[in-house]
Amino acid sequence: MSSNADIYHEMIVDYSRNPVNYGEIKDHDVTFHDANPLCGDSIDIDMKIDENRVSDIKFHGKGCAICMACSSILTEIAKGKSLDEVRNIGKNDVLSELGLEHLQAVRIKCALLSLKVLKSALYTYLGKHLKDAKDLDKLKDEAANLY
Ligand code: FES
Repeated sequence: MSSNADIYHEMIVDYSRNPVNYGEIKDHDVTFHDANPLCGDSIDIDMKIDENRVSDIKFHGKGCAICMACSSILTEIAKGKSLDEVRNIGKNDVLSELGLEHLQAVRIKCALLSLKVLKSALYTYLGKHLKDAKDLDKLKDEAANLY
């Protein structure tokens, strides 16, 4: 019988070999790129936004198995969500899907690179569309306190 750890391991391997939502959206409404400074791996996320909802989301780039699996899971979580819901996605929402809550500190950046990129894309989009400067300050605080 497989343990939970085995199942999560299989999921990570499977997602890394067959990533979900991998690709580009040419006519995206917002895109963002970032890299893991420890290894140089990098992820781009493109989003289409319609009526304050993520109508489509794709990622591309290169990363280790954990990075690719988390990017797949994260884009699955975010697709179809309202911008407020995306704003509230936390690190445990991603980590718990793959049993990674107790990941070593050195691997946590692998797991959360795509979340950092997603949040930055969202802040970029909202920053351009928000009229209230107070909200923008709140966004900057949220961005600064992501990890
Ligand atoms: Fe590069 Fe994990 S080793 S993202």
